[in-house]
Amino acid sequence: MYVANGDPYTMSDRRFPDAGSYAQYLNGHQNKEFIVFENRRVGFYAYSFNHTKNPEGGYVHMIYLDDKYRAKGYGRYVLNKTMKHCKREGVKSLVLHSKKGNHINQDIYTKLGFKCLGDVDDTGFLLKWEMTF
Ligand SMILES: CC(C)(COP(=O)(O)OP(=O)(O)OC[C@H]1O[C@@H](n2cnc3c(N)ncnc32)[C@H](O)[C@@H]1OP(=O)(O)O)[C@@H](O)C(=O)NCCC(=O)NCCS
Repeated sequence: MYVANGDPYTMSDRRFPDAGSYAQYLNGHQNKEFIVFENRRVGFYAYSFNHTKNPEGGYVHMIYLDDKYRAKGYGRYVLNKTMKHCKREGVKSLVLHSKKGNHINQDIYTKLGFKCLGDVDDTGFLLKWEMTF
């Protein structure tokens, strides 16, 4: 598996109905990568540093895998890669937002080393990974 630039707008995220709106969204972000596996796009992913939700660290804007590519270790791969990037850049934490009631995601992120910081609003909560190495 590898991570490379690509064009994710055909993935089923309804927030981005076309390439232009997704490109506009990503342009505001410092790091932007799309998940690619065996020449097939399996999902998309974006994170950046110095976001208001984690000014001292990194923030995952989105991580999304197409249904049939879930629970195969890709999420762990991409987040581990990000954590290593954080380490290289001297960034000591990574925060992401998860939708309320999504207990599956909460379990997954806990397994990946994130701890829940509590609700941020009616829609969801923040989870944080802190470097321990
Ligand atoms: C959340 C998501 C990115 C996780 O990536 P993934 O590739 O499916 O997860 P992985 O296969 O790397 O699994 C990571 C860990 O979670 C566990 N896990 C995976 N799916 C699980 C599930 N449905 N229930 C419980 N645990 C699960 C794995 O066993 C693994 O733990 P382990 O290594 O100790 O066995 C992916 O499932 C996804 O895109 N979901 C839909 C979109 C979404 O909700 N995005 C998040 C918005 S915040």
